[in-house]
Amino acid sequence: MATNRRVTLAARPEGFPQESDFALDEVDVPGPGSGEVLVRVRYVSVDPYQRGRMSEARSYARPVEIGDVMTSQSVGEVVESNDGRFSPGDVVVGQLGWQEYAVARGGSLRRLPPGLEPPTLALHVVGATGLTAYFGLFDVGKPRSGDTVVVSAAAGAVGQIVGQLAKLAGCRTVGIAGGPEKKRDLSEAYRYDVAIDHKNDDLHAALRDERVDVYFDNVGGAISQAVHRRLKIGARIVICGQVSQYNEPRPEPTFHPGLLIVYRARMEGFLVNDYAHRFEEGVTRLAGWVASGDLRWQEDVTEGLENAPRAFIGLLNGANRGKALVRVS
Ligand SMILES: NC(=O)c1ccc[n+]([C@@H]2O[C@H](COP(=O)([O-])OP(=O)(O)OC[C@H]3O[C@@H](n4cnc5c(N)ncnc54)[C@H](OP(=O)(O)O)[C@@H]3O)[C@@H](O)[C@H]2O)c1
Repeated sequence: MATNRRVTLAARPEGFPQESDFALDEVDVPGPGSGEVLVRVRYVSVDPYQRGRMSEARSYARPVEIGDVMTSQSVGEVVESNDGRFSPGDVVVGQLGWQEYAVARGGSLRRLPPGLEPPTLALHVVGATGLTAYFGLFDVGKPRSGDTVVVSAAAGAVGQIVGQLAKLAGCRTVGIAGGPEKKRDLSEAYRYDVAIDHKNDDLHAALRDERVDVYFDNVGGAISQAVHRRLKIGARIVICGQVSQYNEPRPEPTFHPGLLIVYRARMEGFLVNDYAHRFEEGVTRLAGWVASGDLRWQEDVTEGLENAPRAFIGLLNGANRGKALVRVS
């Protein structure tokens, strides 16, 4: 009997997660039941939302239970199928978790768009983080040509795509990221007009002359407070994520509602899954821009499933340069 290595949740972290909050175990490879598919996982995704799933705090999704496999989107090959829509060898993406083998309902899996190379694109640009950038920017941020669009965590999986989509919409883009290498990526790879390193530059001075039409906020906290001081009348603030607050036991509010009056601004949160009925539209457009060379991307791949916790902790420290992924085998 083949074995399945899995990374499970061992403890609920208090504050910043530790590697000891996770455990590596081995169980028998499960068999697929009626309507189910067995998938051999090749790559798993590492994302900030997984921090929320480790906690019991009220949220938009149920937490991972202690002892359960860490939830994640993963890409793999079908090994055995009891769903007529899938055959062995098909490459699929789904919520398969941090493990080597997963059984899933056929209806929960998506086949990769034909010719998608590398297949890991289905975990980012042509998948969840690309779709987050696409719907968050265009539907919530509603950029107009000539607008100034500011993006935090701008070199990350979502941020690298937001900046390029905003350029495609004719906007002027300002990216904020941590460290000189990411700052260089902002200008050279993702074509941001202005690149700011929040770890080494004077953020307030760098933003002093900006007038912000759209702020795509991935981080919250002090970075966002600096951007809020530079809003333009009619600004749109897209609340995509607040990663700087995810390890805080009592996150501090970073926005004063009175600013919405001063700037006649709109602030709106969104969840990419709310747009599931339009994913095909988003995937088609994003795949088209990748194929035409209009969208560039970077992956930060960690080798070995057992290193997924370390990659995740690195992501929460800003160590990832591009989309954080783990190659399972
Ligand atoms: N609303 C939705 O449906 C949805 C969907 C997907 C993701 N999200 C959110 O989008 C955001 C970006 O996600 P992603 O997958 O693209 O991750 P990512 O940007 O690739 O990685 C997270 C980045 O956040 C930054 N960061 C971490 N801690 C920080 C802190 N204390 N202060 C400032 N920056 C910090 C780091 O970048 P720097 O080193 O550059 O600061 C880090 O590299 C997250 O907030 C995530 O929760 C939302």
